[in-house]
Amino acid sequence: MDIEKIRAEFPVCENYHYFQSAGMSPMPLPVYEKITEGYRSLTDHGDIFFHKDIEKQEEMFGIIAGMLNCNKKDISMAESNSMAMSLTGMALKKKHNDFNIVSMEEEFPSNSVPLEYLDIEMRYVKHKDHRYHIEDILALCDENTLAVQTSYVQYGTGFRQDLYSLGAELEKRNILFIVNATQAFPFFPPDMKANNIDVLSISAHKWGFSGHIGTFYVTSPDFRKNYPSPIAGWLSVDVSQSDDFIHTAKNKDFDLWEDGRRYLFASANLKSRLGFSASLKFLQEYGIDNLRKHMLEISDYMIKYLKELPCEIKSPNAGHSERSAIVVFSMTGKNNAEIVEKLAEKKIIVALRDGGIRASVNIFTNKDDVDALINGIQGLI
Ligand SMILES: Cc1ncc(COP(=O)(O)O)c(C=O)c1O
Repeated sequence: MDIEKIRAEFPVCENYHYFQSAGMSPMPLPVYEKITEGYRSLTDHGDIFFHKDIEKQEEMFGIIAGMLNCNKKDISMAESNSMAMSLTGMALKKKHNDFNIVSMEEEFPSNSVPLEYLDIEMRYVKHKDHRYHIEDILALCDENTLAVQTSYVQYGTGFRQDLYSLGAELEKRNILFIVNATQAFPFFPPDMKANNIDVLSISAHKWGFSGHIGTFYVTSPDFRKNYPSPIAGWLSVDVSQSDDFIHTAKNKDFDLWEDGRRYLFASANLKSRLGFSASLKFLQEYGIDNLRKHMLEISDYMIKYLKELPCEIKSPNAGHSERSAIVVFSMTGKNNAEIVEKLAEKKIIVALRDGGIRASVNIFTNKDDVDALINGIQGLI
């Protein structure tokens, strides 16, 4: 793995030791070029390539579907994870009155706020050393539990859940499985079928290297059949029997697309979205498995040196199976907020999350970055 070659594609590496990818990954040059090329095309050709861009978006969904083991027709996009969870909650409420959803107490609020706002009874599993044990999740479920919702990777600790075992238990109990893989994809792509996932949401700005393009919203065919979309837009309408792609009739019955297009409600910023296909192409040149391996190894290196400092490592780190690219720690007896600020003055960018210091490694992180972080902290304590 030629990390220096990768770094040459990330101008951010010239400016910072950047450990804030769990907030948003920086953009590599090939993605930037693809997006600016898209805007240049709008400048030179206006709307002429709108339908071509829709086709390219479908091709991109095809590649993502291959990574998630689902059909490209299961994939759509929402404005955000908050919107994806709102849509999901509204769909559940349209069908059922009295139910609860079991979730985890440290979830990012875009998982919890939309569902609480809909007055859905939310039950939160307590963590044990920032892990969520499957028996504790199941213990909170009862006959009124319609769904379990979890992040694949927790934003505030980096804990990676065992989706396979949890999904198998939920399948046995006929409980829906709603997963937010925002802090995992594309390096840890969840398998929709093997994990029995009904609804998957992935906000792409974290690890997608293509800016704020929204959320991939992935639903199983059964979920769509059982839970009709609670809202619709002009592009949601099935026009396969019509010779126009716009449903102009008024007060005439219509159906929504059976597939994920029902959620592609309306006009969207396709030029930016298509940057994600350039991102996947870039990552695939190096091999996503190799990149994941590098990220786990460089975070091992960070953890090894953190363990020599007076700090508590919040992230479960017993083995790679529960790990991700996120490492969170707290300096013993020190003001973490102040440390984060002082590190930023030295161009070492970490984040304060839930009182802890979050340092996320990425495909471009090298040992010099980690050494700068460790030395930087040592100089402040
Ligand atoms: C796990 C997780 N999900 C989602 C988001 C972003 O949510 P949204 O797409 O609603 O802005 C974040 C941001 O920190 C996150 O960590």
